[in-house]
Amino acid sequence: MNFIDKLKKKALNNKQRIVLPESFEERTLKAANEVLSEEFAEIILIGKKDEILNKADTLNLSKVKNATIIDPCDHPKKDEYRDLLFELRKHKGLTLDEASKLVENPLYLSVLMIKNGDADGEVAGAENATGDVLRPAFQIVKTMPGISVVSGAFIMILDNKELGEDGIFVFADSAVHPDPDSNQLADIALASALTARNIVGIEPRVAMLSFSTKGSAKHEMVDKVIEATQKAKNANPSLKIDGELQVDAAVIPSIAKSKAPDSEIKGRANVLIFPDLQSGNIAYKLVQRLAGADAVGPVLQGMAAPINDLSRGCSVEDIVSLVAITANQASGSFDNK
Ligand code: ACO
Repeated sequence: MNFIDKLKKKALNNKQRIVLPESFEERTLKAANEVLSEEFAEIILIGKKDEILNKADTLNLSKVKNATIIDPCDHPKKDEYRDLLFELRKHKGLTLDEASKLVENPLYLSVLMIKNGDADGEVAGAENATGDVLRPAFQIVKTMPGISVVSGAFIMILDNKELGEDGIFVFADSAVHPDPDSNQLADIALASALTARNIVGIEPRVAMLSFSTKGSAKHEMVDKVIEATQKAKNANPSLKIDGELQVDAAVIPSIAKSKAPDSEIKGRANVLIFPDLQSGNIAYKLVQRLAGADAVGPVLQGMAAPINDLSRGCSVEDIVSLVAITANQASGSFDNK
């Protein structure tokens, strides 16, 4: 049984309410149908009920009728959500009129439902850009206590079982924060180690990546990675983490022997931390598209409630997998301490 099947099985025992706000998007509707067929989560869709059910009918998606469907313009809690949004954002200059309009936006409505305890998690991003999915979440749900930055990890599953942990890696940040400073990069490393342990079920060996290995190049970009490595080590002395490393020295033991002979992770990294979003996002897409790896995620790390954002190039299966992860995050089956 692969790890997504295990997550679905766990989710079955404690069903969570997952909202899929892009309810007219075809892959999302197909994914909703699949989740409802497998019955590992309850699904909330946002839109006009007859329009969603007609579309589901056209696509032969017989289980969609079992979803809860909320009309964003006409539902009993509309004023309650407007007032909640206004209270949360008035210090930023949001007016009641603006709040009334925003609550009709499915991406805002979803996070307000979570904040209000009416939904347990959200998966979106099949048709909306990452920024549009994340902004409402940052504004309303915010970060976990003690976490400075939300980041996005991909669980990369390769055919070559000799790499990483039986072919599995966690890549981060591949989705959210464009240019982390050394403190934020240290936080991303710590959060990714938790993702590896709690979501993937592997013991993390973290590589802090750079274009330099152990002083082979000098540059302020390299200094940032060295500082972040030290800060992460200070914060969690028992964590297996090393940097700065080039990716070959991080993942190939024979190259680690020559380039970084004293490295604690010895070319056996299973968590790869990229110095910025350009490298992290390019890397995951290259490994997915050129090496044929499955890329599950991004799993958002550090958000106060489980909200996960898809790539717009996602498949139906990607959405179903992310719903399984989100449902497990929501049920607390991952210990995030
Ligand atoms: N963690 C926590 N909070 C954050 C973060 C973060 N990483 N970034 C912004 N915020 C908060 C801010 O503190 C602010 O809160 P406040 O309004 O309560 O004060 C709020 O979010 C808005 O902050 P802005 O700086 O205005 O954020 P902005 O909307 O400009 O940008 C965003 C945030 C959208 C995430 C931006 O960093 C972004 O576009 N990142 C790139 C996303 C992306 O395109 N990824 C690649 C594609 S993903 C893929 O391929 C799978």
